[in-house]
Amino acid sequence: MRASLIRSAAESLRKGGSSSSGNAIRRSYSSDSSPDRKVAILGAAGGIGQPLSLLMKLNPLVSRLSLYDIAGTPGVAADVSHINTRAEVSGYASDEQLGQALEGSDVVIIPAGVPRKPGMTRDDLFNINAGIVKSLCTAISKYCPNAIVNMISNPVNSTVPIAAEVFKKAGTYDEKKLFGVTTLDVLRAKTFYAAKAGVPAADVNVPVIGGHAGITILPLFSQAAPTGNSLSNEDLKALTKRTQDGGTEVLEAKAGKGSATLSMAYAGAIFADACLKGLNGVPDIVECSYVQSTVTDLPFFASKVRLGKNGVEEVLGFGPLSDLEKEGLENLKAELKASIEKGIQFAHAN
Ligand code: NAD
Ligand code: LMR
Repeated sequence: MRASLIRSAAESLRKGGSSSSGNAIRRSYSSDSSPDRKVAILGAAGGIGQPLSLLMKLNPLVSRLSLYDIAGTPGVAADVSHINTRAEVSGYASDEQLGQALEGSDVVIIPAGVPRKPGMTRDDLFNINAGIVKSLCTAISKYCPNAIVNMISNPVNSTVPIAAEVFKKAGTYDEKKLFGVTTLDVLRAKTFYAAKAGVPAADVNVPVIGGHAGITILPLFSQAAPTGNSLSNEDLKALTKRTQDGGTEVLEAKAGKGSATLSMAYAGAIFADACLKGLNGVPDIVECSYVQSTVTDLPFFASKVRLGKNGVEEVLGFGPLSDLEKEGLENLKAELKASIEKGIQFAHAN
């Protein structure tokens, strides 16, 4: 019973993970045949960190799971370590142990930092989270400079440029290995579209481009597949707004008790799984992510990305847009540009 629960969770990660066509190939990767991979989670004792630790412990591609937080990690690590799956779990709980937590990591996932309270924007988190991200990325450049970094901490539109600048300063920047995690926007777009269009949520694909805050989140419902009920312009506007405000919807429903954690942990696990598959040479792994980009005139932009052995294999363009999406793209540029510049300036000034 327990084993089948674990298997079905892992299988669901595999199936929900990417828009690729390589399911048969990916299923053939088992704990026996896949290479050793160390995944570190920084902020592992938090609202996202705990369920994300659980989901990564269920992932058969992970051989070592390193859990780091400034407090509370021994308990989380002890708890998760009793699950009889492949990954060996270690917990680290202080600055002095950060090096050990990071050393040898293939993938580092960062959900460390404060979440929003009702009434706040993601940018309101900048003052606290920018410093946290900067110090964690400084340690990454020292202890695991070749790791793939999955940035979850908000404001993602600025924390990714901060990380890039920290790595550049340390001489370790590889634009192929730095990702802002925007998978939750994709999950929301899929879920909301599926309900309105009358198609199964698990089968839908909807690319989401731009960034990860308010109007910078731009779902491309004109490219949704499969299509179902035909939707009016008003329907599409409402779906777009709901996707852009998805984080606020959860924040308000939790009424002061944090922002999205469970859906984010799932989204983070899906994205990390895609990175691991790419590293392991599984073909056709495509996910949306906020990366260094030339698809627009902005230096960072979320779009579909093909993942491979070195991280980003190819940043894909976003294809034809509807008039509504073209307007959304023009409207988001100024805000996204300002958030990117804010991150770069912070990294230079501190
Ligand atoms: P939380 O407060 O529950 O957990 C954050 C954890 O980070 C805490 O355990 C805290 O001890 C730890 N932490 C703080 N400073 C640290 C440091 N220097 N090193 C290591 N750990 C440190 O918050 P949460 O709900 O888990 O959210 C975490 C972040 O993720 C927030 O910034 C939130 O806005 C963001 N988030 C992003 C997305 C996304 O789609 N990218 C979605 C949801 C939340
Ligand atoms: C989300 O989209 O749920 C996260 O970015 C958290 C938030 O502050 O909304």
